[in-house]
Amino acid sequence: MRRKLAAGNWKMNGDATLMGELATLTQAQSSDGPDILICPPATLLAQAVQTTQNSPVSIGGQDCHTATKGAHTGDVSAQMIKDTGASAVIIGHSERRGDHHETNADVRAKAQAARAAGRLAVLCIGESEAERTGPDTLDIIAAQLDASMPDGATGDTLVIAYEPIWAIGTGRVPTQDQIIETHDMIRAELVKRFGAEGDAIRILYGGSVKPGNAAEIFTAQNVDGALVGGASLKAADFQPIIDALAAS
Ligand code: PGA
Repeated sequence: MRRKLAAGNWKMNGDATLMGELATLTQAQSSDGPDILICPPATLLAQAVQTTQNSPVSIGGQDCHTATKGAHTGDVSAQMIKDTGASAVIIGHSERRGDHHETNADVRAKAQAARAAGRLAVLCIGESEAERTGPDTLDIIAAQLDASMPDGATGDTLVIAYEPIWAIGTGRVPTQDQIIETHDMIRAELVKRFGAEGDAIRILYGGSVKPGNAAEIFTAQNVDGALVGGASLKAADFQPIIDALAAS
């Protein structure tokens, strides 16, 4: 049985005052709820780890370099993320792929670096709007997935986040049938690549998940949770999403 996961991606938002919001969220959780992961900017990782100590909320980074250390000004390694006490890292978000020209090969190398540092990689994939309206949507996503994943992944080292680029921050979401079809395809690809272990890897949906649409999205069999951007910044918005996941 896969454990459900509600993950929040704060992106380049937040300062020390958001720790109050994180404390509120942390205090509201019980130990029998879904797994919760918050990914603040790198500047807040250590503080966020402190704020969520001994709680069901874990903390992750938003990106890591492929190398463990060295002459890479401005970058953060998976080892450094580990050093803060954070347990996970988002890899290959479409904003990284777009803003920083990250290729599938880069993403794969980053996922390998995360594993080498013992951090859970939340690996993002997803199509553009043109790819969604074109004829080969599922093939394109499958190819991106296959080229981005490291070998030997397990449910303990990898989570996939399916995030259609056109749904991120737009208030638009795919139809429920499209979500089901895409997640079922991803599950089949994971099993094809990793055998039985592919069944243990969680698949999150991301892109404009809100309190109002979360419950329906979570009815899909191969949706194991969500990666939430905007609605993860306030405990009052994120909690109803966590509750919908717990009830699904
Ligand atoms: P959104 O972002 O929930 O604000 O659409 C999701 C994401 O980019 O992870």
